[in-house]
Amino acid sequence: MSLKEQVLQALLEGDTCSGEALAKKLGVTRSAVWKAVKQLRAEGFAVEAGPNRGYVLAGCDKLSAAAISHMGDGGYTVELHDCLGSTNDRAKELAAGGARKVCVIADRQEGGKGRMGRSFFSPSGAGLYLTLILHPAIRGEDGALLTTYAAVAVAEAIEELTGGSAAIKWVNDVYLGGKKICGILTEASVDFETGSFAYAVVGIGINVRKTVLPEELRSIVTDLETETGVIVDRNRLASALLRRFADIDAILRDGTYLKSYSERCFVLGQEVLVTRGTEQFSARAVDINDRGELLVDDGSGTLRALNSGEVSVKVK
Ligand code: BTN
Repeated sequence: MSLKEQVLQALLEGDTCSGEALAKKLGVTRSAVWKAVKQLRAEGFAVEAGPNRGYVLAGCDKLSAAAISHMGDGGYTVELHDCLGSTNDRAKELAAGGARKVCVIADRQEGGKGRMGRSFFSPSGAGLYLTLILHPAIRGEDGALLTTYAAVAVAEAIEELTGGSAAIKWVNDVYLGGKKICGILTEASVDFETGSFAYAVVGIGINVRKTVLPEELRSIVTDLETETGVIVDRNRLASALLRRFADIDAILRDGTYLKSYSERCFVLGQEVLVTRGTEQFSARAVDINDRGELLVDDGSGTLRALNSGEVSVKVK
């Protein structure tokens, strides 16, 4: 680890350290510590210093793989970019080349993708845009389980860091204060012969800071800062997510997260308008089954199971 990273680590541990104390701790000169602090500042870390206060890391807004790994990365290797077209596309490229347990993060995306061919607004400094490469031991046709788990993980991470209480709109949207705060896009390559995953990528976009939204998003989208007043450090948020994906197979085997998903899913019990390709029908959302599908009552006498793939649901 470089001296710069060691200084960052000491500051991330919450230490308020004088240059002298840091120099002693790390076995270097004060001027070497000062140079490391200067480098960290140049990289965007808000290292503050004051008389009788020593150095302290203020609300840190710079994404850093070292900071994430220090706070806990769940065993994922973080690949960080200032800008990508889409973290999902980069993750698929890596997965196709054999990468495992990698998390791709970008400060901004120029072609952020949503479900049903939509785009995902991803400006710099305002959100956390990340994609995990997974090799889950479930059948390819059960991919909705990954999206549903990711939604629970996001809701829990938001609650851990802000105290705000997050809800879920089946299948892939997390809501706070009645507006969308996060979208999830799961894509996969399934082995044709075995029906199992060659790989899956789970892309998560969380709106963190207040920003100027395009007109069409203003009434439906929000961010953590607006809803909770908390300015969340994106490194902490990434770590809170990655730790929740440390052992995805055990979580999927256990399956109890689906109860938490159902409890948070505000669509249940509501009249909804279902769109599947060119077909549209009204129904009442009744339950989530053990495959992460939405069970709806369309009045036909039999509940219909909606698989997330090609379906969108709107609360009436
Ligand atoms: C949706 O709202 O329909 C899903 C949005 C998913 C957005 C995330 S941001 C990180 C990852 N990269 C993408 O291009 N999309 C996902």
